[in-house]
Amino acid sequence: MRIRTAVFPVAGLGTRFLPATKTVPKEMLPVVDRPLIQYAVDEAIEAGCDTLVFVTNRYKHAVADYFDKAYELEQKLEKSGKSELLGLIRDVLPAHVRAVFVTQAEALGLGHAVLCARPVVGDAPFAVLLPDDLIWSRGRGALGQMVDLAGRSGASVVAVQDVPPEQTSSYGIVAAEAFAEGAGRIRAIVEKPRPEQAPSTLAVVGRYVLSARIFDHLASIRAGSGGEVQLTDAIAALLASEPVLAYRFAGRRFDCGSRIGLVEATIRYALDHEDLADEARAYMRAALSE
Ligand code: G1P
Repeated sequence: MRIRTAVFPVAGLGTRFLPATKTVPKEMLPVVDRPLIQYAVDEAIEAGCDTLVFVTNRYKHAVADYFDKAYELEQKLEKSGKSELLGLIRDVLPAHVRAVFVTQAEALGLGHAVLCARPVVGDAPFAVLLPDDLIWSRGRGALGQMVDLAGRSGASVVAVQDVPPEQTSSYGIVAAEAFAEGAGRIRAIVEKPRPEQAPSTLAVVGRYVLSARIFDHLASIRAGSGGEVQLTDAIAALLASEPVLAYRFAGRRFDCGSRIGLVEATIRYALDHEDLADEARAYMRAALSE
């Protein structure tokens, strides 16, 4: 199983970051010097994807502009011999990778956003990455680990992590069979259950490798939690005919859909950054003792 297509649902409103997101899509908020969407794109490319499908809405031109070629800027940098900067903007999307933009005309939910990508994805298995979930890892990226597992097992794979019981209502929650080598077969999956109804505290994180049969379920399920078409509900339907694995990835996930998550990610990446680590560490020490 080779996963070549990655879908990025980027049509969300980002109300938690207002007023910044009045004009800047939340996927364009930076962590150090790169927008969130770039981290997810790099993870997908590292995992072997070469077709990136962005599901956007009419307010998200900035995402398409970002991946477009910036002719004037490139010419200017070329003329002034600033090859390092030139490399930085060219690396946004390597030459072998193509970006496709699909519009989600109505905000009908994550499942509906993924369904909008169907004409581009076709019949092959594909990946979904939610750029809000930033996954930091020193080795192979989380999606790469999942693609490897999908290749070995032939099954769909959903990333999971343990969360405190009181947080189950913010996530898809899975009940899985015993885990071996980080993965366990999912028996049940439910979107945002209250703690007393949750089958476990194992939460879905925004990385999926899915069989294309998910589209039939997305097309036929009804609106679920929050009145939206939920990807989780389509996965629940898929379980009846195919195995789906829950996978505890190696790496650390930052919930950059929340303000504190974005702050934590910024600190983590600054501490890990070649140019910034020493100053960032010194400043943090000083700030904590103020
Ligand atoms: C979405 C999914 C949910 C998943 C979460 C991970 O929810 O619907 O199942 O656990 O992403 O970040 P959202 O955070 O978009 O409400």
